[in-house]
Amino acid sequence: MRLLDWFEPHGRHDLPWQHPRSAYRVWLSEIMLQQTQVQTVIAYFERFTAALPDLPSLAAASHDEVMALWSGLGYYARARNLHAAAKLCMERHGGALPTDFDALLALPGIGRSTAGAILAQAHGLAFAILDGNVKRVLARWRGIDGWPAASAVERELWQFAESLLPNDRLPDYTQALMDLGATVCTRTRPACPRCPLRQDCVARREGRVEQLPTRKPA
Ligand code: ADE
Repeated sequence: MRLLDWFEPHGRHDLPWQHPRSAYRVWLSEIMLQQTQVQTVIAYFERFTAALPDLPSLAAASHDEVMALWSGLGYYARARNLHAAAKLCMERHGGALPTDFDALLALPGIGRSTAGAILAQAHGLAFAILDGNVKRVLARWRGIDGWPAASAVERELWQFAESLLPNDRLPDYTQALMDLGATVCTRTRPACPRCPLRQDCVARREGRVEQLPTRKPA
């Protein structure tokens, strides 16, 4: 598998939420990373998990403590949803995040991609993710036209993402896709000569790498 072979030497293996990898830590990192860069998230993640190392401690924390730990990250609805979701997990799921996709999706702040990231990264289950970086990689690789937030385009991207899932090493595979988008298949000036997918990248073959993914219509 080309992505996994690339990941060994070139992917990121030292992110704090990878060591140890738990559903709580993957969840927290995904929520922080929704609107914040990895380099900024790392220190917040370390501080947050030092104070609240697991889901029961988050559920039992005061609103003020959670907001203080989030302070500076912005988009504070993320912290409110996180706290509410932790309390719901105490009531509904015995104090842990559920391992069922629909039960995860029912929690505040958890959408399809975050649920997939938790199941793939923490439990090794075959669920796809589709964040901004991954949308860009897949749109170029498969040559998918159209603004990725448009529902028909998004549907096609999800289908492609699901068709690619390997049978094992889901945590590494998921991280590899995100890392490729962050470090090689970047929005501007992508490093195609270093890309493990270059042989069959449709956008590259057609000279459309810079045109994909299609920008938001004016
Ligand atoms: N963005 C969302 N999840 C991420 C992860 N696990 N690593 C790097 N960037 C991410």
